Amino acid sequence: MNTEHQLLGDERQGEATMVEQLSDKLTGKKLYVESYGCQMNFSDSEIVASIMAQAGFETTRNSEEADVILLNTCAIRDNAEQRVRNRLTQFQKDKRENPNKIIGVLGCMAERLKSQLLEEEKLVDLVAGPDAYRDLPNLVHEVGTGQKAVNVLLSREETYAEITPVRLDTNGVSAFISIMRGCDNMCSFCVVPFTRGRERSRDPESIVAEAHDLYNRGYREVTLLGQNVDSYRWNITKKNEIIDAEKETVNFAQLLEKVALVNPGLRIRFSTSHPKDMTDDVLHTMAKYENICEYIHLPVQSGNSDVLHRMNRGYTREWYFDRIDAIRRIMPDCAISTDIIAGFCGETEAEHQDTVSLMQAVKYDFAYMFFYSERPKTLAARKFEDDVPEVEKKRRLTEIIDVQMAHSLISNQKAVGKIHKVLVEGDSRRSSEHQCGRNTQNVMCVFPKKGNKSGDYVNVKVTECTAATLLGEIVE
Ligand code: 5AD
Ligand code: SF4
Repeated sequence: MNTEHQLLGDERQGEATMVEQLSDKLTGKKLYVESYGCQMNFSDSEIVASIMAQAGFETTRNSEEADVILLNTCAIRDNAEQRVRNRLTQFQKDKRENPNKIIGVLGCMAERLKSQLLEEEKLVDLVAGPDAYRDLPNLVHEVGTGQKAVNVLLSREETYAEITPVRLDTNGVSAFISIMRGCDNMCSFCVVPFTRGRERSRDPESIVAEAHDLYNRGYREVTLLGQNVDSYRWNITKKNEIIDAEKETVNFAQLLEKVALVNPGLRIRFSTSHPKDMTDDVLHTMAKYENICEYIHLPVQSGNSDVLHRMNRGYTREWYFDRIDAIRRIMPDCAISTDIIAGFCGETEAEHQDTVSLMQAVKYDFAYMFFYSERPKTLAARKFEDDVPEVEKKRRLTEIIDVQMAHSLISNQKAVGKIHKVLVEGDSRRSSEHQCGRNTQNVMCVFPKKGNKSGDYVNVKVTECTAATLLGEIVE
């Protein structure tokens, strides 16, 4: 027993010395990180900046002066990958002028394209998958010794729980907190379970501690992030065995409550909810606490039950309507947004019209809308033909976007004439005479300045609107 501990101790000491040596070598170097895709990627980049800071790297917003450039990539749709490739080609030009510059790919494209990016196209020196960020200082060091460095191992445990993110591009008011990683849902169109691995929850204590720390540093809004927050569960194994019978388990509703209690002045948002898992408990917790925002992002993907079945979403049109009814019953003023995919495999015109009719019935306040793009390895790529012609996909998408634009405008028009509690985020992009911030329903409001600072709550009387923004003025 003793020898075993001794060995472990020695190993750890060895690790520590190596990190110290590395950080000596890397101190004073500059890191530039660029993020693509979902909020989770932006949040991961802040973990990456923290790990690299411990190894001596300072972050810079200027890629030209950087010693290491890392692109945190997205693989969800083909066009996201194309954008990253174009950017890598641009950085290659910089590298010709400065051959010591290290260029790395992180995130969801890492696993998919490691050999292609490193060997065939020679676009990058380093590739690290979403669970390999602790290894980044070593990987950078390996590149320095002339090797190509890769780590795309996915983990069942990694949650980066104890790492305090370095907030990048921050307004000092709102921040992301990652509460879980990976996804087990296997929606047939989606590449995420392959690129980000199995679902695992982060311990509630470190989440609450991060929220406290953010509040103490002046932040006033946190967004809890997970691919499917409703399946957040702590202290339970994947086989549903309780790890420690003495300890209570924590589900998402309970976690929300713990974070809401951090401080009534800290607003809570979360994303993404899953219609198959969203419970009334979560809705009741939202209704109970004024500081949990009245806004739910509930991706429907399609309004037709057969398409939903082919998508492997785990619910029907009727089930989805039941969840919408529950939201309206428990929180009549709650805003609802969604994700919709047009032209999934085998989608007929009648099935597409079911999506339009579902939109007409729900009247979403906001939506992210896409046409289907086949992703390698997914269930859909293996089982179904991508048979809706591109022009048809785009026509259906345009129809969906037009319907949504009208609904977003109606939703904002309803806000006109009312007073909204808005958290000031900073100056408006268009004018330094104006400030902007969101109401609880997540709509951006713009109003003339009246001496308030970022992070203050103000009451704004809305006088006008567009489909995207509310305009108004601060009232007492
Ligand atoms: N094609 C088009 N849209 C997709 N999404 C995920 N995978 C695909 C795909 N292969 C959309 C879904 C999801 C959002 C994040 O991206 O609507 O909810
Ligand atoms: Fe992808 Fe479905 Fe998981 Fe969302 S829930 S990340 S769409 S597999």
